[in-house]
Amino acid sequence: MNYKITSYSEKDTIELAQNIESEKFSNMVICLMGDLGSGKTVFTKGFAAALEVDEEVTSPTFNIIKEYESGELPLYHMDVYRLDNSKNNIGIEEYFTKGGITVIEWADMIEDILPEERLEIKFRMSGEDEDTRIITITPYGRKYEDLCEAVL
Ligand SMILES: Nc1ncnc2c1ncn2[C@@H]1O[C@H](COP(=O)(O)OP(=O)(O)OP(=O)(O)O)[C@@H](O)[C@H]1O
Ligand SMILES: [Mg+2]
Repeated sequence: MNYKITSYSEKDTIELAQNIESEKFSNMVICLMGDLGSGKTVFTKGFAAALEVDEEVTSPTFNIIKEYESGELPLYHMDVYRLDNSKNNIGIEEYFTKGGITVIEWADMIEDILPEERLEIKFRMSGEDEDTRIITITPYGRKYEDLCEAVL
């Protein structure tokens, strides 16, 4: 089962993030996929704002992981685009069960270590116009299925 949503603006993507945030739980893992500039960081910023993170959320491209502790739950924001596969990825997996919420940009690059239960969100540019994104959301596991039913 997956859900297909069309986002016509940055605001629509932020609203989607807010809706998903409203059903948050501890140890939630959100896997974001899609091309450069497709909206993964926009989604993450919207999610962080809904969580009431009061620090500025910036792309963690060069540090791989950024932790924000000021929101209702800890937020672990990862961008694994530049992750060097020759290093071991053990550190990443520890975040999935640390009690917060993990949001991973370019999650498809670490597919082999993703938890079985997770929410996948795929962003696709639409040929129609610059601001349109086709967003496909796939829940894996009961908790994520319930979440999707509640907000999508
Ligand atoms: N419907 C939309 N949803 C999200 N962003 C949009 C939308 N329409 C236009 N944009 C613009 O597209 C850009 C998305 O950038 P963003 O940094 O979120 O991409 P990204 O997927 O994180 O890319 P990267 O892989 O480089 O990290 C922003 O400049 C945003 O304003
Ligand atoms: Mg990004």
